[in-house]
Order: sequence, then C-alpha cells, then structure tokens
Amino acid sequence: MKTISLNIQDAVYFAGQEKFDALRPAAAEAISMLDEATGKGSGFLGWVRLPSETPDELIGRIEATAERLRSECEFVVCIGIGGSYLGAKAVISALSDNFSDFHAPEPGKPKVIFAGQNISGEYLADLRGLLKGRRFGIIVISKSGTTTEPAIAFRILKDMLAEQAGADAARRLTVAITDRSKGALRTLATQEGYETYVIPDNVGGRFSVLTPVGLLPIAVAGFDIRKLIGGAADMQRTTAHPSPDNPAGIYARMRNALYASGKKIELLINFNPRLHYFSEWWKQLYGESEGKEGKGIFPASVDFTTDLHSMGQWIQDGERTIFETVISVGKPAVEERIPSDAQNLDGINYLAGRSVDEVNRMAEIGTRLAHIDGGVPVIHIGIHSLDEHTLGQLIYFFERACGISGYILGVNPFDQPGVEAYKKNMFALLGKPGHEKETEAIRERIGAKQ
Ligand code: PA5
Repeated sequence: MKTISLNIQDAVYFAGQEKFDALRPAAAEAISMLDEATGKGSGFLGWVRLPSETPDELIGRIEATAERLRSECEFVVCIGIGGSYLGAKAVISALSDNFSDFHAPEPGKPKVIFAGQNISGEYLADLRGLLKGRRFGIIVISKSGTTTEPAIAFRILKDMLAEQAGADAARRLTVAITDRSKGALRTLATQEGYETYVIPDNVGGRFSVLTPVGLLPIAVAGFDIRKLIGGAADMQRTTAHPSPDNPAGIYARMRNALYASGKKIELLINFNPRLHYFSEWWKQLYGESEGKEGKGIFPASVDFTTDLHSMGQWIQDGERTIFETVISVGKPAVEERIPSDAQNLDGINYLAGRSVDEVNRMAEIGTRLAHIDGGVPVIHIGIHSLDEHTLGQLIYFFERACGISGYILGVNPFDQPGVEAYKKNMFALLGKPGHEKETEAIRERIGAKQ
C-alpha cells in the first residue's frame, strides 16, 4: 500500500524535543478517548469508524443515484455550505483537470457545480444564466435543514428546475441529503417524494465528507468512491492505536508543541493548484474544531509558488508566530517539458528539456530551506499522487489528527457554538419571527430607524 509520509524533523527543532515528547501521554489518551468515546463531544464520533463500516449496499445505492443523474443531466448543482459543501468541493477539485469548468459538459459526464455556499444575489443570477435551457439536477445538502444560505439557493433553483423540466422531472432530478427525521428539508423531501440520503446523527458537518454528503457529489463527478473509502479505511487502521508512532498522534503532538512555543498560526501549503480547496476543507476542520475558549491555532493556507509572490515576504520575514504544514505531491499526473528557445531572451534555456514539475520540486525544496532559515518550522506530508485512494488517506489522517489535537488542547473538538453568533444578529436584523426582542435591541445598537 502506498501511504502518506510524515516528516517533522524540521519542526521539532523549533519546539524542542522535550516539549514534543512530553505530549506523548496526552496523545495516547486522546486516541483512546476517540476510540472508546469517553471524551468531550463523544456523541459526534460516528466518523471514526465510518470508512470500515460504510455498508456496501449504501455505496451501491450512491453509485446508482450518481449514474442516474449523470445520464440525465448536463449540470448537477450541489447546494450546501460549510461541512455540507467543502469536502466534496475539495475532492472533486483535487481530482479534476484544472480547467474542467471551461470544458463543455459531455453526454453522461455532467459538470458538478456548487451553490448555497454564499448569499450573493449575483452568484445566483449568474448561475441561473448558466442553467437556462440546460438539463440540470440538484443535490441539496443540509443536516439541520434550516441553514439560510442553502435554503435561499434551493428555493430559487427548485423553482427554476420545475419551470424548465416540469414538476415530475424536477422531483426526479432532486436528491436531498439531510437528517433522518428532523428539519424542514426532511419534511419537504417527504412531501415532494425526493430521493433522500441520511446524514448520520453522530457525524458533524466538517467530518461528513465520507458520508453521502461528500460521496454522492464525488460519484456524480465521475470519481471512484470505493477507492476513496478504501484509502480512508487504510488510514483508519494506521491511526487506530495509541502508540507513539501513530502518525496522526505525531502530527497532533507536533502542532500542539509548536503552539505552546508561540507558533499560533499554521499555514497549510501546497505546490499544486488542484489542492486549493483541500486547504479550504482543512481550514474548516481545524478552525471549527479548535478555535474556542480563547484558544486554538489559527488555520490558514497559501498556494505556492503563486503566493510566494504575495505572501512570501511576510512568511520569510514577518512576525515569527507561524509554522507550515506542506502537502507535497510526489508524482504529477502528466509531464510537461520546457522547450528551448533560439533567442533565449528570458534566460531560461538552462531549463530546456526539463520537466515543469522538476522546477516546481526545486522551488519547494528551496522554499522549505529558506523558511527554516527564516525561523519557520516546517512539517512535511508527502503523498504519492493525487488519486482517490490517497485523498481518502489524507482526509482520514487529518480528521483523526484533528480529534487528537483538540483533546490535547483541552477543548471539545466536535461542537461549534461560536458559529451561531452572526446568525442571531442576522436573523434579528432581518426581522425573523421569534426574534422580536433581539430585533429591537440590535436596531437600537446600530442606530437604525424602526
Ligand atoms: O461543520 C458544521 O457543522 C457546519 O459547517 C455546517 O456543516 C454548516 O453550517 C452547514 O450546516 P447544515 O448542514 O446544517 O446546513
């Protein structure tokens, strides 16, 4: 089995071996707490055994639904936000041609696009423009079934689909992924007779990519969800034991040792633009899991070499409160070679005949050394290639490490109480029924006319 590799030697030096070693017992305890469900948030540990326990029958059903949507649609719009969006987006982007959005849909190969992940009227109007007169389907995803962003998008697109395809076809072309029994989306799905999938009660949004939330959109995009789950299951086994060489435990210990040494910001770094959204998924996973009680590493991300030309100065020379975790892809999907040029005006003939990715590799090594010299600890995660199996491994690795890391930090990694604060204000400002008192108070606070 090709597995991911983890190298912390360029980070441990900064935190000190002692600090890192001292976290061994806490990591071992955290691994057992995840396994035995004895820690905070233990009602949300369904993701721990998801890869090994996903029934074959469920995978088969997801594949059949995906095939049905693929055969009938040019576009499939996935509506959802946060954990109901980022996992699928991350995997699809990582496995897709960089320019797949600009290629026309082909029969049996619809474009998967996303909506309900913002509240922009322009975005929705542009999307309606794209879908006008086209055959499209909808996968609407919301665990609570009441989240404002996807609810707005679904209202608009549901009506459009019914107008364009007719009520019966619209029902057939809509799939809802939601709670087993609760929430507005469940009620609507039952009324309308949509095909539905359940988001398990014990799996929180940001840990849900290996449930139908992620699996259905990924299958619709044409990728092999069995290999994805297989990779995750391999990593489930690799990270199950509370031994000191558990890679998820090592990563969790390393980041907590760095945090205790004043490194408050973690930059997830890639040298491959296909991984941009993987970083977005990772930021939600770690940000929502650890940023609470006035604590938590701030998870940020940059895409190199692109951002070396914008953020490189700060990273090299700014306040020394950062560390980096670099995801390094070993084997590019294709080899592109640099041509020779008779005039050599740009002076890069010394690179002629070499592969673009060799240059990228040297940029990566050079950057790592420069950043270490500049006082930035670097954790290195090597993956063989960007494929379903490897992504499954990587997803599960980060999930398990996140649970361990949150427990070492002493927070509940499986709740997100802070996410509600903006919603309360927004509902009060919009005059949502039931929020009358808050509406009055907030209008007074901002000096708005009644
Ligand atoms: O991780 C989380 O819990 C959140 O990001 C949710 O996934 C997000 O708010 C969407 O919630 P829902 O699926 O209930 O619409």
